[in-house]
Amino acid sequence: MKQAIICVDDEDIILEALKDQLGPFFENQYLIETSTTAEEALEIYDELVESGYNVPVVISDYLMPGMRGDEFLIKVHAKNPHTLKILLTGHANIEGITNAINKANLYRYIPKPWDRDDLILTVREAVRSFLQEEEIKKKNEELQSINENLEKLVEERTSELEEANATKDKFFSIIAHDMKDHFSGLLGYTEVLSTDFERFPDEEKKTIISTIRNVSEQTYKLLQNLLEWANIQTGNMPFKPEQFPLTAFILDEMTLLQEYSGKKHQTLDFKPTNETIVYADESMISSVMRNLVGNAVKFTPENGNIVITTARKDSKAIITIQDNGVGITPENLVRLFKVNESVKTYGTNQEDGTGLGLILCREFIKKNGGEIAIDSKKGVGTTVSFTIPLLG
Ligand SMILES: Nc1ncnc2c1ncn2[C@@H]1O[C@H](COP(=O)(O)OP(=O)(O)O)[C@@H](O)[C@H]1O
Ligand SMILES: [Mg+2]
Repeated sequence: MKQAIICVDDEDIILEALKDQLGPFFENQYLIETSTTAEEALEIYDELVESGYNVPVVISDYLMPGMRGDEFLIKVHAKNPHTLKILLTGHANIEGITNAINKANLYRYIPKPWDRDDLILTVREAVRSFLQEEEIKKKNEELQSINENLEKLVEERTSELEEANATKDKFFSIIAHDMKDHFSGLLGYTEVLSTDFERFPDEEKKTIISTIRNVSEQTYKLLQNLLEWANIQTGNMPFKPEQFPLTAFILDEMTLLQEYSGKKHQTLDFKPTNETIVYADESMISSVMRNLVGNAVKFTPENGNIVITTARKDSKAIITIQDNGVGITPENLVRLFKVNESVKTYGTNQEDGTGLGLILCREFIKKNGGEIAIDSKKGVGTTVSFTIPLLG
């Protein structure tokens, strides 16, 4: 940074002397500004600061027409308390010096006529002390910014850890509750069958076996979801993003998805926009589509309507799945993606679920650089949309 020293005295000859002595000492690297009035010196001070100068030292005469030296130094002190102030005067005026010491934190008082070496030594010390102070200030600011960054980092890490911990809690709670329920069901049915096999008529046996089959299937689905979820949490899920055409991809998925909706006699329409090339892991997006359309089917009564649309916005493709089903209550809507909460309701045909589907979808979409949003009105229907990037 550029450095400047301001000298104020109503006598030109004094200013000349100061300039002659100080200039060469600072090897003309310091700008030495002079002024015959304190008023003008204050303006010079402001101009210097505005053009990027440091003013380590001001040297001022005491008695001048207009503003006195002590008042001038008090004004400089108000502008920058770090600037070191030197009072230079032939009239030993105790009151003025005391005033400058008390109110302007006067650095030195030099009586006129001064000794050249004494003056240079004093100014040199003042400059050194100023620069040291500046250095400390800079270091402090650096430390503070490092500190702030560290605090932010700790906060981020903490919230990541909290989320990971909540995830683990949810994992265990699902195993503890849902899996346990399923298994106690299975154990109960198989126990009855094995101890009282002969007692049951064939029809009843068939019903029990079909129930066992359903519960097993549900347990298997739950286990599959849990495993998929565990894999993505631990980073063990292979992630292979590629470019692929979105419309063709969804058309491919439609056969399977229409099988879901067909079972409940619902219509499932696809309204694509112009063909868009997206960049994502196809198998993850395919899993997301199945989960979301699966939900739409599950939470929409027989003969309902489901529509898939695509659009483009900025550098993302938006895929929307809209149904006219039962909708979601506002209380549940805000809890949907929270790992430490659990939202799970039965479908319109009492279809059971795991309550993990949406969380999985969000993880998959996040991994692919997109976002998911749900809008829903109880009794009217639900709209789920998610984005995927157009280019890698
Ligand atoms: N399209 C939808 N319409 C109404 N409710 C929905 C819809 N999608 C999700 N939900 C609600 O969100 C819950 C969580 O969904 P999800 O995570 O897929 O779990 P699951 O389908 O196993 O119940 C569902 O149980 C349901 O209450
Ligand atoms: Mg689901």
